[in-house]
Amino acid sequence: MPDTQRTAVITGAGAPRGIGKATAARLARDGWAVAVLDLNEPAAKEAADEIAAQTGAPVFAHGVDVADEPSVLAAYRAVRAEVDAGRLPGVGAVVNIAGITSPVPFLETTLELWNKVMAVNATGTYLVTKAFLPDLIEAGWGRIVNMSSVSAQQGGGVFGRTPYSSAKAAILGFTKALARELGDAGVTVNAVAPGAVDTDIRVGTTDELEAAIVKGIPLGRQATVADVAGVIAWLTSEDAGYLQGTTIDINGGSFLH
Ligand SMILES: NC(=O)c1ccc[n+]([C@@H]2O[C@H](COP(=O)([O-])OP(=O)(O)OC[C@H]3O[C@@H](n4cnc5c(N)ncnc54)[C@H](O)[C@@H]3O)[C@@H](O)[C@H]2O)c1
Repeated sequence: MPDTQRTAVITGAGAPRGIGKATAARLARDGWAVAVLDLNEPAAKEAADEIAAQTGAPVFAHGVDVADEPSVLAAYRAVRAEVDAGRLPGVGAVVNIAGITSPVPFLETTLELWNKVMAVNATGTYLVTKAFLPDLIEAGWGRIVNMSSVSAQQGGGVFGRTPYSSAKAAILGFTKALARELGDAGVTVNAVAPGAVDTDIRVGTTDELEAAIVKGIPLGRQATVADVAGVIAWLTSEDAGYLQGTTIDINGGSFLH
């Protein structure tokens, strides 16, 4: 948390068991105001109501398709309107969590699938960051945290295959290039690369696959959403101010560089 309360904008924060909602709740508990953005607007509003009731933090919810520029700009304007009306403090962090995966083998992928997975994960991170970054630069303080995956580092191997691995790798390149370009603007941009996390993202997974995933994790279990939210909370804190363009692995030892 910065010295004064700021708003953390978190995308993909609607899913009831997802990393985004857990991160929004954690940041609200840590003293942030939060803007919960999600494709599923009713879910975003439900998550926001729950977090506000639990924490008393200022919480705002809005629908967004992170892959669609007009939708991202509309969400940005909606957050700014709350800030300008004094209902939210200024934006201090952007956490790009919205994402989708796909287990389709390479030769069975279609261009449509490739484009969709790239659009939500990579283009979404680009569009949301581009919309909110000027506010962070103007404030002279900001934290951007991008959601990659161990799949980017080891070439899939959990559930998602080529489009997912490629999109999550693009996010690492984006994070590094933006970090370099931001210089000393007071804004840091870093990424997290979780291994398997116990959420509902792996649509169509089987008990066998989930057990096989756990077998490859030295810590003997998948990550909880709280494991990931805790690392993101630290990356958005004052303490992480000298990290720039880096990636933090949250994989229980399943992939070691
Ligand atoms: N669960 C894992 O094992 C795991 C591991 C590594 C990385 N990740 C990444 O973490 C992020 C969150 O994953 P999760 O497991 O919580 O998944 P989830 O499916 O529970 O949540 C994803 C959220 O993103 C939202 N979303 C999807 N498309 C969107 C769009 N176009 N615009 C806005 N919101 C959109 C969904 O509505 C949902 O609320 C994803 O980027 C995922 O790739 C997950």
